[in-house]
Amino acid sequence: MIRLGIIGAGRIGKVHCESIGRYVKDAVVACVADPFMNDETEKIVRSFGAQKVCKDYREILDDKTIDAVLICSSTDTHAKISIEAIEAGKHVFCEKPVDHDLAKIEQVKKALEGSKLKYQVGFNRRFDHNFEAVRDAISSGRIGHLDVLKICSRDPGAPSVDYIKVSGGIFLDMTIHDFDMVRFLSGDEVESVYAVGGVTVDKAIGEAGDIDTAIVTMKLKGGTLAVIDNCRRATYGYDQRAEAFGALGQVAISNDCKSSAVISDADGVTAEKPLYFFLERYMQAYVKEISEFVRCIREDMPVPVGIEDGLQAVAIGLAAKKSLATGAPVKL
Ligand SMILES: NC(=O)c1ccc[n+]([C@@H]2O[C@H](COP(=O)([O-])OP(=O)(O)OC[C@H]3O[C@@H](n4cnc5c(N)ncnc54)[C@H](O)[C@@H]3O)[C@@H](O)[C@H]2O)c1
Repeated sequence: MIRLGIIGAGRIGKVHCESIGRYVKDAVVACVADPFMNDETEKIVRSFGAQKVCKDYREILDDKTIDAVLICSSTDTHAKISIEAIEAGKHVFCEKPVDHDLAKIEQVKKALEGSKLKYQVGFNRRFDHNFEAVRDAISSGRIGHLDVLKICSRDPGAPSVDYIKVSGGIFLDMTIHDFDMVRFLSGDEVESVYAVGGVTVDKAIGEAGDIDTAIVTMKLKGGTLAVIDNCRRATYGYDQRAEAFGALGQVAISNDCKSSAVISDADGVTAEKPLYFFLERYMQAYVKEISEFVRCIREDMPVPVGIEDGLQAVAIGLAAKKSLATGAPVKL
């Protein structure tokens, strides 16, 4: 049994706690740490099977019975806690992004040099059944040379402005999943990025120095053209689609819904809305990503999403930020 410690009991910390407690075999949540741990959070994480809670994550790092940690705290703590966890001999699963600063991610890379510890980054969409199907269609050669890759990624609603202020901006917080998806689906690297953005959802997001709507176009090294469209508000739910168009054909995925029922009557034809947000849409992917992390520890295998993937996605995000600021395409 692999004993896991979860650091950070906010939105995603609770999601992982639930997914491990309910669905991940061969692993147990030994402890959950959060400086704001209270009775309510303790009750929730214990209901998912967490054995212990504490306020200081160093208790987890000092516990010799814990094999690995999941870093689910706010982004500004990831690099520091990663390095401390590696020094304490723990395998690490770190939520995206590893940091907003490439130099800090390099420091984590350095701390891992020569170590046999596993370090996986939380790009959960790689484990989603729909995105896996697109990747398989591309990598098997079924659609031929990939000419155009389109990713649509829209949240049902914007996070709080307090979250926006420390998020690193839309490209490092939200689009980062899509940048990773471009690399994952195409199997290629980004050569140049051009970004445009606006504030169409909430003026307060603009006042906090961010945008809430964006279009990013990219040229990949193998000649593919890619486009991502993002918005922090989709009235009908979490809009997560992709289309890959190639020399031999096309592959597209649509949203997952609660059911495939379509009701037709005198008023029209109505189908279910997409599942509401990441918790509903990606639970299966969260289970699979942590199951893979646990398997890599147990069987001493390389992790499916490593520190280099974490670094590349941030590099593309920073290039998009620069492009938005300068109004010009940016080469990586
Ligand atoms: N992969 C995904 O789908 C996904 C989804 C949401 C968030 N995230 C990422 O997860 C991270 C957390 O996001 P969230 O939405 O859960 O935020 P959140 O604000 O809901 O939770 C963060 C938690 O971390 C705690 N925390 C802060 N400093 C800590 C420390 N030193 N030790 C322990 N806990 C600490 C806070 O008290 C808070 O409870 C972010 O980096 C975000 O980008 C990933």
